[in-house]
Amino acid sequence: MSFKEQIDSSKIPQHVAIIMDGNGRWAAQRGNDRIFGHEHGVEAVRAAIKAAAEIGVKHLTLYAFSTENWNRPKFEVDALMTLLVRVIKSEASELNKNNIRINVIGDRNSLPPKVAGEVEKIESMLSQNTGLNVILALSYSSKWEIINAVKSIASDVKKGKIDTQDISQELFDSYLSTANIPDPELMIRTSGERRLSNFLLWQLAYAELYFTQKLWPDFDKEDFWEAICSFQNRERRFGKTSDQIKKPNIK
Ligand code: IPE
Ligand code: IPE
Ligand code: MG
Repeated sequence: MSFKEQIDSSKIPQHVAIIMDGNGRWAAQRGNDRIFGHEHGVEAVRAAIKAAAEIGVKHLTLYAFSTENWNRPKFEVDALMTLLVRVIKSEASELNKNNIRINVIGDRNSLPPKVAGEVEKIESMLSQNTGLNVILALSYSSKWEIINAVKSIASDVKKGKIDTQDISQELFDSYLSTANIPDPELMIRTSGERRLSNFLLWQLAYAELYFTQKLWPDFDKEDFWEAICSFQNRERRFGKTSDQIKKPNIK
């Protein structure tokens, strides 16, 4: 039986986040340069979007480029930016046809103007769509995001817009770039690495983590659904005991 057939449609996570890792290694295994791996990673992005949309996931966050990735060789950074522009342009109409929205989170000011411009264009072109919301983390890091939120809160306290007493987890959520989006219930990382690499540190506080050896360009729809099945077979206790979860009437 395929993994898709094993999915319980009443327990679909609303939000799945993915660290798409392993493009460079995938290319190296084929005797090619890292850029070749990034180019082939695009097919896996398409597959993950389709796989998420098909089962009714509402939000899919994809870690495409981290703040730390600016420290890679200029040749690779430039190639990634060029690839981004090309993919945004070529995928726009297909995404629109499938009723998909795009939201970019990250430091837009650090993006080359061409990339920032294309990002804005595609966001507004798809903004009225009502299907899957794809959140693209671009020049993103969680510590950057958290510091930004803290600065905005401090400034609003100073202006008298909010009182220090009003600062709560909910208020903090509303200052993050993921405001109004539920926290991911599932985080997938490919390529065998088991770390968060500065990704959604606050939002992943209670997420189920799923690690696979598959390198990103090899990750396909069935791999996505396998992760969903793994998620559905876990018991999420949120600090309670297993008995409390199994028999909710027990106090
Ligand atoms: C992920 O693949 C893509 C980006 C970080 C942009 P990598 O480029 O990190 O590939 P590996 O980890 O070196 O194999
Ligand atoms: C994390 O992957 C960032 C993205 C997938 C965009 P990296 O390959 O940059 O992470 P590290 O450096 O191995 O932690
Ligand atoms: Mg990597």
